[in-house]
Amino acid sequence: MFFSKVVVAATASAGLAAAVSNSTATATLGNITVAMVRSAPPNWPSPLLNYDWTDSVLNISETVDAGISLIKKAAQDGAGIITFPELWFPGFPKGNAENNWTVHYLSNYIHNSLTIGSPNWNRLIEAIKEAGIYAGLAYSELKGDNIFMSQTLISPLGDILAHRHKV
Ligand SMILES: *[C@@H]1O[C@H](CO)[C@@H](O)[C@H](O)[C@H]1NC(C)=O
Ligand SMILES: *[C@@H]1O[C@H](CO)[C@@H](O)[C@H](O)[C@H]1NC(C)=O
Ligand SMILES: *[C@@H]1O[C@H](CO)[C@@H](O)[C@H](O)[C@H]1NC(C)=O
Ligand SMILES: *[C@@H]1O[C@H](CO)[C@@H](O)[C@H](O)[C@H]1NC(C)=O
Repeated sequence: MFFSKVVVAATASAGLAAAVSNSTATATLGNITVAMVRSAPPNWPSPLLNYDWTDSVLNISETVDAGISLIKKAAQDGAGIITFPELWFPGFPKGNAENNWTVHYLSNYIHNSLTIGSPNWNRLIEAIKEAGIYAGLAYSELKGDNIFMSQTLISPLGDILAHRHKV
């Protein structure tokens, strides 16, 4: 994990800055430390340019466990917000035709997507509340028969401040 100090106005998304500045929570707004997750989710093929998913079995519970550890560490290290990379839960679906990714791995991917309000989702919310920091969750969201590339900003009180389906 990598930390850098930035002012809220300099964060990547204007929507994020607006949502944070409206919050009643206690983080020092205007000068907030951002924890940016750089480690890979569990069972994700490494290194970065490895597209081979053979024997990589996703497990959303394990990914949520790892996310909770990072949320705790960010708070312990003094961050006011933790942000996860796109689709960190359960892992960005990099794959190629040779690997036949959609045929062999898509079903596992869908089954390991996160549903808002599910036990794994609630575990993340509880961890965020306990840590007392903001969190920008980035995940494959399973909603009814669809999956979405989603981003949700959670307050230190566990409220959803902003929720977005990118795709
Ligand atoms: C926050 O406040 C700004 C300015 O008052 C407003 O434009 C924006 O929609 C608000 N954002 C949220 C998430 O309520
Ligand atoms: C932000 O806070 C840090 C200490 O945590 C301080 O060193 C820095 O000067 C502050 N920056 C601004 C712009 O207030
Ligand atoms: C997924 O991970 C959890 C630990 O977080 C473990 O208890 C469970 O057995 C795993 N499931 C499978 C199918 O491996
Ligand atoms: C992908 O996998 C399916 C089912 O295993 C198979 O029928 C198909 O030929 C494979 N395609 C490629 C390009 O390997």
